[in-house]
Amino acid sequence: MEINNKEIRLSRSVIGQEEIDAVTDVLKRQYLGMGQDVQLFEQELSSFFNREVVCVNTGTAALHLALQAIGLKEGDEVLVQSLTYVATYQAISATGATPVSCEVVPETCTIDLVDAERKITPNTKAILPVHYAGNVGDLKGVYTLAKKYNLRVIEDAAHAFGTTYNSKLIGSFGDICCISLDGIKNITSGEGGIIITDDETVLSRIKDARLLGVEKDTENRFKGQRSWDFDVTQQGWRYHMSNIMAAIGRVQLKKFPKFKEKRQELAALYKNCLKDIEGIELLDIDYNYVVPHIFVIRILGGKRDIVKTKLENLGIPTGIHYKPNHLLTYFNGKSERLKETETVYNELLTLPIHPCIEENEIEFIIKGIKDILR
Ligand SMILES: Cc1ncc(COP(=O)(O)O)c(C=O)c1O
Repeated sequence: MEINNKEIRLSRSVIGQEEIDAVTDVLKRQYLGMGQDVQLFEQELSSFFNREVVCVNTGTAALHLALQAIGLKEGDEVLVQSLTYVATYQAISATGATPVSCEVVPETCTIDLVDAERKITPNTKAILPVHYAGNVGDLKGVYTLAKKYNLRVIEDAAHAFGTTYNSKLIGSFGDICCISLDGIKNITSGEGGIIITDDETVLSRIKDARLLGVEKDTENRFKGQRSWDFDVTQQGWRYHMSNIMAAIGRVQLKKFPKFKEKRQELAALYKNCLKDIEGIELLDIDYNYVVPHIFVIRILGGKRDIVKTKLENLGIPTGIHYKPNHLLTYFNGKSERLKETETVYNELLTLPIHPCIEENEIEFIIKGIKDILR
C-alpha cells in the first residue's frame, strides 16, 4: 500500500530505501533471528550511550526484564506516575509487584515527587519515572529520593531517545534506563527496546532472560551458534531482538541526527506559535535539549473534546496521552482518585509530530486551533 504523504498523520514510521536495503540484505543471508546484526546494533548503541546496551523485542519487554532483574516479587511496590502508557504498568505487574499510582506535576506531566514520597512504604523497592513527551522533569530529585529510601530507579525513557539532561544523554548515566524502538519512536527497529545500565548483575540476568533464561546463549547466538547443553536458573522470556529488527535500527541510528533536528524544529515552531493563545497551556519543555516523541498541549476551560473533534473534522488527527492507569479496572485495586492527574488528563491533547511533517502543515494545524478557540 502506498503511503499518502499528503495526509497529516499524528505520528508515523519514517523508513527509506536504506532500511529496505538493510532488511533485504538480512533476508538474503537467511539468518533472521538474533545474530551478528543484533551484536553490531548493540555495539553501535553502546558507543552512542557510552555504556553497555542490551536489545530486546519491545520497550515493554525492556521494562519487564529490568524490573525482573532487580529482583522484584509479589508484595513489592513500585512508585510510578499514573499518567503513562499501560505498558509501564503491565511491565511492573508482570513481575508480581504492585504499581503504586502517583500524581504528576501538571506543568511537565512527570512524576510528582512529593506525592511519591508520601506513598513510600517498607515494601517500596523502586521508582519508575516516565520521561513524558521526551522530557525528564526533576530527574535529579528522583535520584535524591531514591538514595534517601534506598530505591532502584528504572527510567521509562520510551519517549526520550536522544534527550539530554545537564548536557548528558539520557541513558548515559543513572541506574537503569529503558527505551522503546517501536515504529513511531524517535528511532525505530520496527518494534524493539533497549536496556542501558552499568549494573553487571542486571546485564547478565537480562541477557539470559531475553533468551528464555538459557545461560550464556547470547554469546553463542552472536557467533551464529546455539546452546545445546545449558542450564536455566531464572524465569526467562522470548524477548530477544531479531537481525531484521537490528538491521532497521542500525540505519535509523545513523539517521538520528536529522530526525532530532526536525523534531526539535517542529516542536519549537509549535511552541512559538501557540505560546500566547488564551486557553492553551504548553508543557514546560526546552526543545534545545528534549527530542520530542509526541507534542502535547493542555486545552483549558473544558474545551479539549470540542477542539479535538473540530480538528479531526479539518483532517487533523490528534491523540490523548494517556488514560491514567489508576482509572483502569485491572490497576485500580483501591479505587483511589488522583485529582491533579484526572484534571490534566481531561486537558491533554497531542498534536501531530514526526520528521515528515512540513512547516506549512504545522501552520495549518495552528490556524485550525486558533479558529476553533476564537
Ligand atoms: C511511556 C511508554 N512506556 C513504555 C512503552 C512500551 O514500548 P513498546 O511499545 O516498545 O513496548 C511505550 C510505548 O509506546 C510508552 O509510550
